[in-house]
Amino acid sequence: MENLISMRNVSKNDILELLELARQIETKEIKPDLSGHLGALLFFEPSTRTHFSFDTAIKKLGGQSFSMSGTSSSSVKKGETLSDTLMTISQYADFIVMRHKVEGAARFASETVDVPIINAGDGTNQHPTQAMLDLYSIHKTQGTLDNLTIAMVGDLRLGRTVHSLAQALSEFNPTFYFASPSHLQMPQYIKDELLEKGIQFEEVEDIKPIIPQLDIMYVTRIQKERFAVLEDYEKVKDAYIITPQVLEKVKDNFILLHPLPRVNEITTDVDSMPYAYYFQQAKNGVFMRQAIISKIMKLV
Ligand code: CP
Repeated sequence: MENLISMRNVSKNDILELLELARQIETKEIKPDLSGHLGALLFFEPSTRTHFSFDTAIKKLGGQSFSMSGTSSSSVKKGETLSDTLMTISQYADFIVMRHKVEGAARFASETVDVPIINAGDGTNQHPTQAMLDLYSIHKTQGTLDNLTIAMVGDLRLGRTVHSLAQALSEFNPTFYFASPSHLQMPQYIKDELLEKGIQFEEVEDIKPIIPQLDIMYVTRIQKERFAVLEDYEKVKDAYIITPQVLEKVKDNFILLHPLPRVNEITTDVDSMPYAYYFQQAKNGVFMRQAIISKIMKLV
């Protein structure tokens, strides 16, 4: 593993190895050493969890970091190209974590510079480190990744986390329900990949009938910032709102995940229910990102 760009390029063995590595890091069975290494955190798009959990992960591993949050105080503002920014940063840093609004930007970065690139989100395309922490959260709560029934709910077209997670889970024989407004459905290329692998999925608009069957519900935000017309966002923004009443008939092992940030798609009175796992999910991101950095930087 030289870079982490897309879950499509991560094998089942790599996934299982990263899960075990994250577990060993969380339980302190191992303590990979990143001292003497410097990570660059280049966030061309806003972030709270990904940015700060990567920063935390680097520091917990004993490494150092420097950050860019948005472009207003960098020379991108003066018209510097992405290529020149990356070439420059790669003279300073030993690896680069990058979020960018353009699909394919992380792949471009990996083809432009010699240091490892970790994709922290590229437009509507991929968010592989989120998928890995989602898998870690699912494995911790379910004891397995195999044969689970999972609903992905919300903006499945523009939300990149579900693309990476659907690809990652497809190695483990899931049954998927994809619940979205009709024009925010899972992209056809992801559905084609699932069909090729023989993965069962059904597209639904109403989630009520499927809730008693679910092991996992993965709720996502409607991606307001990616709508060209605000009126179109207003029409669908409240398409799914998860309340305690919605969760009345869930299975005992059921958990509710959300990559966060949420807007209003899960009401705050759900937070105290035993199914609500989204803040622990965010915490798991630190262990998984420590594992990813350790593997890419060949510390283990
Ligand atoms: N889940 C996630 O990517 O959150 P941030 O946008 O805050 O990094």
